[in-house]
Amino acid sequence: MNNFQYHNPVRILFGKGQIAQLPTQIPATAKIMLTYGGGSIFKNGVYEQVKKALAGYQIVEFGGIEPNPTYETLMKAVEIARSEKIDFLLSVGGGSVLDGTKFIAAAVPYEGDTWQLVAKRAKHATALPIGAVLTLPATGSEMNYYAVISRQETQEKYGMGNPKLYPQFSILDPETTFSLPPRQIANGIADAFTHVMEQYMTYPVRATMQDRMAEAVLLTLIEEGPKMMQNPTDYDAAANIMWAATMALNGLLAAGVPTDWATHQIGHEMTALHGIDHARTLATVLPHLLEIKKDTKREKLIQYAQHVWKCTGTDDELVAAAIQKTADFYESLQIPTKASVYNVGPDSVQEIVKRFTARGMNFGERADITPQVVGQILERSIA
Ligand code: NZQ
Ligand code: ZN
Repeated sequence: MNNFQYHNPVRILFGKGQIAQLPTQIPATAKIMLTYGGGSIFKNGVYEQVKKALAGYQIVEFGGIEPNPTYETLMKAVEIARSEKIDFLLSVGGGSVLDGTKFIAAAVPYEGDTWQLVAKRAKHATALPIGAVLTLPATGSEMNYYAVISRQETQEKYGMGNPKLYPQFSILDPETTFSLPPRQIANGIADAFTHVMEQYMTYPVRATMQDRMAEAVLLTLIEEGPKMMQNPTDYDAAANIMWAATMALNGLLAAGVPTDWATHQIGHEMTALHGIDHARTLATVLPHLLEIKKDTKREKLIQYAQHVWKCTGTDDELVAAAIQKTADFYESLQIPTKASVYNVGPDSVQEIVKRFTARGMNFGERADITPQVVGQILERSIA
C-alpha cells in the first residue's frame, strides 16, 4: 500500500426530512446565495422545503446554472455575489450546480483573472463557505473539493480543485431523487461506477482494504442500480445509490493506491466538443481503454472479473469477461459504448489528440496513455 494522508471535513446529513436541518448548519446572520439549475427544484418540492427551513434568512437566488456549468453563467453569479456581499453559498441541485457553486466560492474573493482558477488551477487562499442540498447521486461533488467547469466561448472543460472548496455540509435526502428522469438515474449510476473503476482498475499494490471497499461500491451499484431504474421511488434503492455515489468519489478509494483518470480526461473533451452528457462520454471510452490497456491492467481485470462479476475460467477468459461485463453494464443502463452513436468522427478524434499533445499530457496510472494512445482508444470507439 502506498503512503497517504486522508482528511475529509464534510458533514453529511443523510436521510428523509434532513433539509429541515439547514438552520442548524448555516449561521442565522448569513447572507446566502441560493444557487440552482434549470428549475427541477421547483417541480419536486425541494425549493419549498429549503425556503421553509430558511425562513427569516437573507437570501439572494441565482438560477440557470446549466448541466456542465459554464464560466460565462457563473461569472454573472460572481458579480451579484460581490455586489450583494454574499457570505454563504447554498447549492440546491445536482453536481453541476454544486460544481458551479464551488467555482463561485473561489472566484468571489479572487482578485486575479478568474478563468485562471480553472484553466491553470490557480491557487486561491480563500473561498466563501458552501453548503449543499444534493438532488442527483452521481458526481461525488457533495463530499469532495473538485469542480468541473466549461467555457462555451472556447469549447473547453477542465477540472479544478482546492481543499478550500469542500462543502461544509451536504444534505443527502434520497426522496429528492424521486423526480429524476430515467436518463439521469442511469447517468448517475454510470458516473459513480466509472469513478470507482478509475481508482481500482490499475495495478495491485496489495491495498486489500481499498480493493474490497471499491468492490463493495461496484456491487452496490450493480445490485441497487437496476432497482432504482425500475422504480425511481424505491426509497432504499435510492438511498443505497446515493450513498454509493458519494463513497465512490470522496477520496477514500484513492487513498494509498495508483489511479488512472484517463477515461474522465478524454470524456471531458467529448463533452466540450459535442455536448455529450458526462456519464455517457465515459461509457464510450472505458471499455475501449480496457481493451487497449488489458496487459498492464491484467491482474486487476482478473480480480474484478472474479470478485465483482463472479466469473470463472482461465486468466485470458477472465480478462475478456471483465471488459465485456463492463460494456454490458453500461448498455444495461441504456448507455451506448460507442462514440459513433453520437456522430463523433475522425475530425474530433484528431482534435482531441491535438489538444492533449499541445498540453503535453499523458494519463493513466503509469502515465503511458499518451495522446497517440488516446487516439487508438477513440478510433475503436468510433469504428
Ligand atoms: O438543472 P435542473 O433543472 O436542476 O435539472 C438537472 C439537469 O437537467 C436534472 N436534475 C437534477 N436533480 C434532479 C433533476 N431532475 C429531476 N429531479 C431531480 N431531483 O438533471 C440534469 C443533470 O444535472 P447535472 O447536475 O448536470 O448532473 P450531474 O450531477 O451528473 O453533474 C454533472 C456534472 O458534474 C461534473 C461533470 O463533468 C458535469 O459537469 N463532474 C463533477 C465531479 C466532481 N465535482 O467531483 C466529478 C465527475 O466526474 C464529473 O466530472
Ligand atoms: Zn465522472
